[in-house]
Amino acid sequence: MPADYTPATIASVRSLRDTLEQQGKKLVFTNGCFDLLHAGHVRYLEQARALGDAMVVALNSDHSVRQLKGPERPLNPEHDRAEVMAALRAVDAVVVFDDERATTLIEAIRPHVYAKGGDYTVESLNREERSALEAAGTQICILPLVPGRSTTRTINKMHGGASAAAPVADGTLRLAVLGSGSGSNLRAIIAAIADKKLKAEIAITLTDQAESSFRETARAAGVPALYVDGGENPRRLSDAAQKEIFEHLERARVDVVVLAGFMRILKEPVISAYVGRIVNVHPSLLPKFKGANAPQLAIDEGELETGCTVHLVTAEIDGGRILAQAKVPVNIGDTAETLHARIKVEEHKLLPQVLNEWRERGLPVRGAGAP
Ligand code: GRF
Repeated sequence: MPADYTPATIASVRSLRDTLEQQGKKLVFTNGCFDLLHAGHVRYLEQARALGDAMVVALNSDHSVRQLKGPERPLNPEHDRAEVMAALRAVDAVVVFDDERATTLIEAIRPHVYAKGGDYTVESLNREERSALEAAGTQICILPLVPGRSTTRTINKMHGGASAAAPVADGTLRLAVLGSGSGSNLRAIIAAIADKKLKAEIAITLTDQAESSFRETARAAGVPALYVDGGENPRRLSDAAQKEIFEHLERARVDVVVLAGFMRILKEPVISAYVGRIVNVHPSLLPKFKGANAPQLAIDEGELETGCTVHLVTAEIDGGRILAQAKVPVNIGDTAETLHARIKVEEHKLLPQVLNEWRERGLPVRGAGAP
């Protein structure tokens, strides 16, 4: 491999594709970060290559790896990753791309076969990528993951093997904050950390809303602002999204997951892996008014008092053990908006306070998620 290796251009790969087509042959396309190559990657790439007559690997740039996997990745810079990848016998060309998704490349290259590894199904592929593939008439092939081989697992092993990290030595809590909306609770956590009322650091924030005030808040505070496409149902997470969120949390080695207005329901594997370590803030005095529209429900029911609750998250919606509550009066003439705004004022005090007390007392015993 010459030291002055340069990745292929999109134009050259497109022309390779056209030449193959004239010969009745097929170009296979796959994409990924390929940060720390292991035997699982090599076997996957061999299988993918066997689906056609030549294969191009679209490699995420360093910038897009950071967006996808968090600030500590990639371990190896894009030029090195491209050079190593191009040296594999299954790989005919490598292109580097700067987006989180490969949609533009798929549109430009129009590969004959698209290979994807892992637990995906055709349905759980990213929507934009999938429509680009369908528009190009590309055959989609999902290949099984090679069991026991994963970059995240290797990295965790290097960090001492623990996926359930203990708080760092000086007692600073490593948080992941998940949200979908205006991000006021995130701002309250950031402010409490800055004011030294909460000894914590935000390892990552994660949102299912690419353009949200929540994400803007994280960016403005210089905190990793990761986006996960949750899938079509606005209240549920696709299997692919659940898996992506789990991987982000594992990679960031967080102590506590904070749901601050995250509008989709978390399921496995996150719930079990973080049992007793996921908190949610909810705008009612639970167990009253679970689910959406809690301030409106309190008004409709003629309540004189409502409030907010910080609780542990279990598979039952808004049903985990209550950690703290604060009361808020319902005023005559209150609308859902005015009431919710006053509830949020209390949330902004309660959530950081609970997190800090939790830190001081130590993390709850694992398995303490039940009410
Ligand atoms: C809060 O009222 C919280 O109780 C609920 O969602 C809202 C999030 O607000 N789960 P924000 O995005 O933190 O401003």
